[in-house]
Amino acid sequence: MGDRNEKGSAKHRRRTTISGEAAVTQAKRGGAAETLSGQVKEKEPQKHENAAGRQKNHSDAGEDTFSCHKLQESLLSSASGFSNYRGILNWCVVMLVLSNARLVLENLIKYGVLVDPIQIISLFVKDPCSWPALCLIIVTNVFIMAALYTERKLSVGTISERTGSFLHCINLSALLFVPAGTVLSLSSVTPVGGVMALSICTVLFLKLYSYTDVNKWCREQRQAKARTLSRSHSCPSVHKANGTAGYTHVTYPGNLTHRDIYYFAFAPTLCYELNFPRSPRIRKRFLLRRLLEMLFLMQLMVGLIQQWMVPTIQNSMKPFQDMDFSRMVERMLKLAVPNHFIWLIFFYWYFHSSMNFVAEIMQFGDREFYRDWWNSETIPYFWSNWNIPVHKWCLRHFYKPMLMRGANRLAAQIAVFFLSAFFHEYLVSVPLKMFRLWAFLGMMLQVPLAILVGRYLRGNYGNAAVWMSLIIGQPIAVLMYVHDYYVLHYGSASEAAAP
Ligand SMILES: CC(C)(COP(=O)(O)OP(=O)(O)OC[C@H]1O[C@@H](n2cnc3c(N)ncnc32)[C@H](O)[C@@H]1OP(=O)(O)O)[C@@H](O)C(=O)NCCC(=O)NCCS
Repeated sequence: MGDRNEKGSAKHRRRTTISGEAAVTQAKRGGAAETLSGQVKEKEPQKHENAAGRQKNHSDAGEDTFSCHKLQESLLSSASGFSNYRGILNWCVVMLVLSNARLVLENLIKYGVLVDPIQIISLFVKDPCSWPALCLIIVTNVFIMAALYTERKLSVGTISERTGSFLHCINLSALLFVPAGTVLSLSSVTPVGGVMALSICTVLFLKLYSYTDVNKWCREQRQAKARTLSRSHSCPSVHKANGTAGYTHVTYPGNLTHRDIYYFAFAPTLCYELNFPRSPRIRKRFLLRRLLEMLFLMQLMVGLIQQWMVPTIQNSMKPFQDMDFSRMVERMLKLAVPNHFIWLIFFYWYFHSSMNFVAEIMQFGDREFYRDWWNSETIPYFWSNWNIPVHKWCLRHFYKPMLMRGANRLAAQIAVFFLSAFFHEYLVSVPLKMFRLWAFLGMMLQVPLAILVGRYLRGNYGNAAVWMSLIIGQPIAVLMYVHDYYVLHYGSASEAAAP
């Protein structure tokens, strides 16, 4: 799908360029004026206008034959309506590459090559024979099974809705707290292993919550239909899946199968549906491209962290311990650059390459994993567009139900950010075995920040404020956690900072 579009647009670009060049050559030869005007109109409207003007002038031969001026604005004034700044964008990229080439060189001269692929393995496992984080991930199957069997019992009425809700509540709480307790109590779980295991548990928690909610809605609709003496047993909220030549349309309770719940467990979405839109086939080239991107970007991120971020963080410990404010700001700004690059690479790696890769294998049709968050002029726009799976879940299972129960918009938004803050803190504090609330505060601060930016800044200024909050906010949180982690585990920050 996207592949074809990519191909299509590439072809289109090529055609335009080639025809553009051909047209100019023809013009030089002095032939085919009609073709020339058509092509030039598309690529170079001003030249075309001038050419057309010349023709008119020659034919009219009136008193304005020699006129070469007209009423017009300069390109850079906003009234001109000119908006093609592609060249400026290229200039920004060239400047970025040049300035960072200097940084790369400086870094290499100062620290030498720090990239060490073997070291990465030790981030995941301490003891090569013990993989506690992997065991935790495998154990999550128990929670999937528990959710499925409870739903089956509910669908045939063996247990009441209240008992079902109670069982789901226990299951979902256990899914969150049992792995957290295991990570906290086992010293063999590394922070990176812990983050991975708990991220998978969190994703599964959100998925199973959605699964139970949707099945409950289906039961409610089935009962409502039964009351109105309808003969149909299908769930009206589901529609025929897209591109489903080979897929059957599933209706409740036919969806309560192992195959269905495992498809959902692996699908790149957090919101359950009985019939997901499906893509008609697996595109091998698209898949291969995403796989190569995944492998390359993963290596790039790890290399940048080892070579660029780690030394900067280590050098930041002393100013933080001495509370040397100006040096702290300097260190934080220094860290902001690699942190931001790595975050951008992570965005592409996760939301584009990895999610599309999984979706392609599973023929999952809905590829809207992100929207144009980079154009955000307000903080809420950013949060509603950068992580679409989470945003969709928040809207469908938390925000809208709250609004429908009579909560006002601000209260519902604060509640969503509170929930999100809880999960951010859960995913950082538990693996680090250190409760500091920086991630929680970082998320909760989004609410006043959104109000401030929304009230005082508009357009490009709002967009700049969103970028600033991303570039500056994250390294502050990173430094806070790393500093506290070093102090907790190595006694004092200055000792830890010593190379
Ligand atoms: C809080 C949050 C859900 C608000 O989203 P939003 O798009 O700004 O919310 P809005 O108030 O504009 O409304 C969204 C929807 O609710 C609907 N809505 C608004 N008021 C409503 C009401 N009183 N009753 C029913 N629906 C209502 C709107 O029509 C809209 O529906 P649509 O999506 O079908 O068009 C969003 O900011 C969010 O997802 N935040 C958390 C993100 C997060 O933590 N991400 C983590 C990434 S790591």
